[in-house]
Amino acid sequence: MCGIVGYVGEAHAKEKIIDGLKKLEYRGYDSAGIALPVDGKIAIRKHVGEIKNLEKIILDPEFDSPIGIGHTRWATHGAPSDINSHPHGNEDNSIAIVHNGIIENYQEIKEWLAKDYGVKFKSETDSEVIAHLIGIFYDGDLLEAVNKAVAEMRGAYAVCAIAAAEPDKIVAVRKDAPLVAGIGKGFNFIASDIPALLKYVREVYLIENNETIVITADNITIYDENGKTVKRDVFHVTWDADAAEKEGYEHFMLKEIHEQPKAVYETLVRRINDDGSINLDGISMTKEDIEGYNKIYIVACGTAYHAGLVGKLVIEKMAKVPVEVDVASEFRYRDPFVDENTLFIAISQSGETLDTLAALREAKRKGARVLSVVNVVGSSVSRESDDVFYTWAGPEIAVASTKAYTTQLICMYLIGLYMGRTKGTIETEYYNKVLDQLKELPDKVDGLLKSEDKIAALAKKYHRREQVFFIGRGIDCGVSYEGSLKLKEISYINSFAIAAGELKHGTIALMEEESLVFALATQDFLYEKMVSNVEEIKARGARVIGVAKDGRTEIEKVADEVIYIPDCIDEVAPVVAVIPLQIFAYYVAKERGCNIDKPKNLAKSVTVE
Ligand code: F6R
Repeated sequence: MCGIVGYVGEAHAKEKIIDGLKKLEYRGYDSAGIALPVDGKIAIRKHVGEIKNLEKIILDPEFDSPIGIGHTRWATHGAPSDINSHPHGNEDNSIAIVHNGIIENYQEIKEWLAKDYGVKFKSETDSEVIAHLIGIFYDGDLLEAVNKAVAEMRGAYAVCAIAAAEPDKIVAVRKDAPLVAGIGKGFNFIASDIPALLKYVREVYLIENNETIVITADNITIYDENGKTVKRDVFHVTWDADAAEKEGYEHFMLKEIHEQPKAVYETLVRRINDDGSINLDGISMTKEDIEGYNKIYIVACGTAYHAGLVGKLVIEKMAKVPVEVDVASEFRYRDPFVDENTLFIAISQSGETLDTLAALREAKRKGARVLSVVNVVGSSVSRESDDVFYTWAGPEIAVASTKAYTTQLICMYLIGLYMGRTKGTIETEYYNKVLDQLKELPDKVDGLLKSEDKIAALAKKYHRREQVFFIGRGIDCGVSYEGSLKLKEISYINSFAIAAGELKHGTIALMEEESLVFALATQDFLYEKMVSNVEEIKARGARVIGVAKDGRTEIEKVADEVIYIPDCIDEVAPVVAVIPLQIFAYYVAKERGCNIDKPKNLAKSVTVE
């Protein structure tokens, strides 16, 4: 995700900012930049790629100042490029800003500024509108101009601004994106994350939502949303830099599991308009295109493939079109039936998986239209696709995918709903019901994360089992595959997923007292059948952990343990059902002393065959 560092002190702000930005590198970024007030103007230097590219273009002594703001960008609106990098200036660079988050109504603001003020925009970003807004409202008081600009903005943001005419201060504001102020002696900092500051300060103020803050070399003043000054307790940071990068979590995987409510929210908020319609900004698929597809292929690898398994059922149900799901390494070599009436959906977190890329090229060669569901903006898959549906999960650092998967699922629902509505294959009532349920997911996932201790206790109890099965029916089957993969890849336990109805066709021969079985029973219309499957397994002596929706207690009579997930419609259950499976895998791996974030033999991005 993007990182912000601002410094006001005695000299050489650029050096402190670079130090801070380097401490945020672990979060992933694609470009970096710095803005400083120099000789009555703001000088902005920015460069795509690593921070070392930026370092090379700021060496000259003329580019220096005791105050400045810097940024590492993880592209959201607009591909990674010098122009799209932050900081952004207004037209005469009398104002510069850095921004984390999204401005949901940036298109509206852009049109308004272009029409009424003749503003010409340089970048494709949502963030640039903030610099222009502040510039238009600026009348010698940066704090006032920032407050006026914020009143026009909707979305989530942490913004830091500087003005050429007030070269002694930074004004910052936060709404739903983190911001901390670092307290020094004769200097002060502002940053999006504590690790950026730890080289210079250990005392910080944690800025809260809707607060505005003014930072000079000697003062930090925090204002609430009514403009009243706020007294904030000093927070003393005791963690080391490594722990701070993980924001107090022991591993990136656990941090990313906990980021899912936010990631799911981000994916939804960018695509659902106030009137409930789905916004396909940047996607050029027309009604005629959608009506013309007689087949969809979803192709991916690993966890992304498992998201496709759920996607198949959802899209078929909503858009009434046959969907085939395939692993990319098979698809690319099997001469599949693909033509110009095929929609090919590639799913990939990294956007660099070689097999997925090769499958995409093969589909394109045969005339298919390619829509990709990708997390990394500007990646190879996104560049080679006709249209891209970004997942907005933010950088995923742990090798085992968690938040990328749940956001890929959200994209599947949104694509299904959009196609269904466009084709008229779903009723408005059903559409609204699914939409309402999707909007409730961030809170439901958050609620479930609160039962982490209970699942950790189960992991402690069962971590020595060497054979684990995951079974489910319907949409639960896809979730079983994902639960099984999570467990095996980080704990090295031999785990296996199978459609519950297939058990007695062979696999049940393996069931014995030492086996552990996760039985996913979240689908109301298949619930009784799952209870019967659990009975069959229990008859062979295996231990069973059931996963069911709140209130579906019948399974307690047959399973040894039951994990309840919040009640929801069957279709969206995977987003909540996978959470306990991720947590279980994490704690089992921890009990077994495994290298959780970097499991043996695995890489985050598989760019070879
Ligand atoms: C498992 C995992 C992998 C990836 C797979 C595809 O936790 O992360 O199975 O899902 O390698 O990677 P992407 O999504 O980057 O194409």
